Amino acid sequence: MATIVLDGVVKAYGKNPVVRGLSLEVHEGELLSLLGPSGCGKTTTLRMLAGLEHPDQGTIDIGGTRVAGPGVRVPPERRGLGMVFQSYAVWPNRSVEANVAYPLALRRLARSEISERVRTALRWVRLEAFAERMPHELSGGQLQRVALARALVSNPRVLLLDEPLSNLDAALREELRAELAALRERLGTTLVFVTHDQAEALALSDRIAVMNGGVLEQVDAPERLYHAPASAFVARFVGGANVLPGVVRDGVFHCAQSEATFALPNEVARSEGPATLVLRPEDLELGTEGTPLPLAARLFLGNSVEYRFAVGTSLLRVVAPPMEGVRTGQVLRIRARRARVFAAP
Ligand SMILES: Nc1ncnc2c1ncn2[C@@H]1O[C@H](COP(=O)(O)OP(=O)(O)OP(=O)(O)O)[C@@H](O)[C@H]1O
Ligand SMILES: [Mg+2]
Repeated sequence: MATIVLDGVVKAYGKNPVVRGLSLEVHEGELLSLLGPSGCGKTTTLRMLAGLEHPDQGTIDIGGTRVAGPGVRVPPERRGLGMVFQSYAVWPNRSVEANVAYPLALRRLARSEISERVRTALRWVRLEAFAERMPHELSGGQLQRVALARALVSNPRVLLLDEPLSNLDAALREELRAELAALRERLGTTLVFVTHDQAEALALSDRIAVMNGGVLEQVDAPERLYHAPASAFVARFVGGANVLPGVVRDGVFHCAQSEATFALPNEVARSEGPATLVLRPEDLELGTEGTPLPLAARLFLGNSVEYRFAVGTSLLRVVAPPMEGVRTGQVLRIRARRARVFAAP
């Protein structure tokens, strides 16, 4: 069952179209990530779900009830949602406990019930011991957890999270990511999670909606997005594939502005003519066969090395095991174990 249905949603700021005909369903209990580059309309979409912005066209339904559309505009507090903003907006002059209690205090619940629920929410985000602290006595990660507890305390059926892990260091991010996953298992809340970090989206989501310039490029499970991207954009954005412009002639890909050609594996679907070649760095191998190219740079990644080549005006990255005695400028041969070809846009 779909908890959230967006249908043909359009939003412009002045003359600037930001969301351009977005149709999307979020299922009950699902964690759906909105993924895309900066400025593609992720926050705007979330704000429309929350009721902080109103779509110019299209409709939004939550839990079977129309909340936005022509003549319908349900205010944020009546949508049954929790939201954590990109800037986590914790009140600086209220204690942790008072911050988390605020949404319940607004609803005039009994003091004993408020304190019980605040305690539970703080336990969920592992901040029980910090109830009395003031925000300036907390780390960035702890502040984000306060914001999360405040969103959870009303037991919302839907939780909207806008880059809730964005201000954290890598270790803390990892930790909070795991906490979020555990929380969601426990609470069964439907989660819409905004991020521009593809690794985070791949790790957390049931499905990912990839946005580009206000439109959806693809909505799919992480594995499908990675292995069967619907466009060169998705392939580049999810998993950092190499994207090379060129032309297919006699079953061979000829790169634009370069002598380089790639023999295409037999199973690759392609038609003759202008095209875009998509090669994942880990699907390329260096050896005695394949396209000869001079090595432009090498980056040590720990257990592997990223070898970089220039192809026309594009960069080609190959991730392979470390090799002894390879110098920049040296010609190496590159073979594609797997490839994808898209018709040129
Ligand atoms: N209140 C506003 N008035 C005018 N333009 C806005 C407003 N809010 C956002 N925009 C513009 O709309 C576009 C989409 O913004 P949005 O905040 O939805 O992007 P985003 O995908 O969340 O990006 P980021 O990853 O940087 O947070 C941007 O070009 C932004 O400058
Ligand atoms: Mg944003």
